[in-house]
Amino acid sequence: MASLAVRGGRPIRTEPFPVWPVWGDEEIDNLTQVIKGGQWGRLKGTVTSDFERRFADLHQAKHGICINSGTTALQIALIAADVATGSEVICPAYTFIATASAIVDIGCVPIFVDVQPDTFNIDPRQIEAAITERTTAIMPVHFAGRPFDLDAVMEIATKRRLKVVEDAAQAWGAAWRDRPVGAIGDAGCFSFQSSKNITCGEGGIILTNDDQVAKFAKAHHNCGRSEVGQWYEHYYYGGNYRMTELQAAVLHAQLNRYEELHRIRLENLDYLNQELAQIPGITICSPDDRITNHACHLFVFRYIKSHFADAPRATFLDALRKEGIPASPGYSLPLYQQPVFREKSFGPRGRKVDLDIDYSKFHCPVTEKLCFEEAIWFTQNMLLGTKEDMDQIIAAIEKISKHADELSD
Ligand SMILES: Cc1ncc(COP(=O)(O)O)c(C=O)c1O
Repeated sequence: MASLAVRGGRPIRTEPFPVWPVWGDEEIDNLTQVIKGGQWGRLKGTVTSDFERRFADLHQAKHGICINSGTTALQIALIAADVATGSEVICPAYTFIATASAIVDIGCVPIFVDVQPDTFNIDPRQIEAAITERTTAIMPVHFAGRPFDLDAVMEIATKRRLKVVEDAAQAWGAAWRDRPVGAIGDAGCFSFQSSKNITCGEGGIILTNDDQVAKFAKAHHNCGRSEVGQWYEHYYYGGNYRMTELQAAVLHAQLNRYEELHRIRLENLDYLNQELAQIPGITICSPDDRITNHACHLFVFRYIKSHFADAPRATFLDALRKEGIPASPGYSLPLYQQPVFREKSFGPRGRKVDLDIDYSKFHCPVTEKLCFEEAIWFTQNMLLGTKEDMDQIIAAIEKISKHADELSD
C-alpha cells in the first residue's frame, strides 16, 4: 500500500497554518481614533510622520518618507538619488517585477544579473561584469528578508561611483553586521503590502541618511511641493504618492507586535534550516555570520530532484501539498524572460518602445534553475506556526524523501 498522501496514504497534517494578517484591538482603536479625529490624509495629521520617525529610528536612518506602495517608493528613491534618465541600473533577475518596473518607470534601463545559488541574492561578481559607462546605479534586493552582501556591493558602488538603492521590500529590521538594512546605501525602500510581515494593505517607506535624497523624495511624493513654498507652488516634478493616516494608524499597531512575531518566525526559520539540511536533496541557504538579523519574509530552499527519483519540482510540491504543507515554486520566470521585457512593451497599451537592448540575449543560469527547477518557498505566515507545525513540515519532507519512488508511479 502507498504511503504518500498523493497516492492515497494518510496525510501528515490537515490543519491550516496561521492566517495572515495578525491584528487585534490596537489596529481597530488606532483606526477609530483617526476616523473620529477627521484628519484622514497626512497633510494635517501627525500619525504618518510619527510612524516615519519610529520606523527610521528602528533602522538607524535619519529620514523616513512614507509612500503609497513599495513600488512607488523604489521609483521615487531612484529619482531622489539622482539616477539619470536613460542610464542603466543593475538589479537581480530573480526578484519581483516591481524592482525592475520602478527602473523602467523612471526612464532607465534595467540590467539583470544573476543571483547566488546559496543565498538567492544578487551575485556581486556579476554586478562588476555588468557595469558599463552607462551604469549609474545598483538596486539589489534583500530577498526573503536576507540581507545581500553589503560589504561587496558597497565596495563596488564606492569604487565605481554608483548609487545604491536597496530594495528592502521584504526586509523590515534585517541587519548586516548589526546595522539595520535600508539606509546603508543611498536609500532603501520597504513594502507594507498585504502579504508583508508589517502591513496596512498597501504602502511603503523610503529610508535615507542623505538630506538631499530626503528633500527630493518628500517633494516628489507630494506633487513637487517644496517645504517652504506656497500650497499651489510646485518647484519640482512630482505626483501624489502620499500614504493616508488610516494606513499609518494600522502600521503603528503592526510595528508594536512585530518584535514578538519576528521572534517566532526567526526561531522557526532557524529550526527548519537545521533540520531540513539533514535531508538529502534539500539544500538550504548558506549561513553567514555577517547577517545579524534575517527578516524571515520567506523560508526558501532548493529542491534537487536527483535525490527524489528525478521527480520534477511540480510533482514534489503536489505531494507536499497533499501531505498538508502548502509551498510555492516562487517566481516562475527570470525577469528578462517576462513577456513585457522580452517584447520591451513599456509603452501605453503594451506598445513596444525603441530601446537599444535585447533581453532575449540575457542568460542567468542560477536564476533560471531557481525559477524552473529548484526554488521552493514557504510564506511568512507558516513561520508563525508552533514547533509542532514545523515538525510536521519536516516530517512531510522526510516522508516524501523516504518514499520518493512513489512520486513516479
Ligand atoms: C522584492 C520586492 N520589491 C518590490 C515590491 C513592491 O512592493 P509593493 O507591492 O508594496 O508595491 C515587492 C512586493 O511585493 C517585493 O517583494
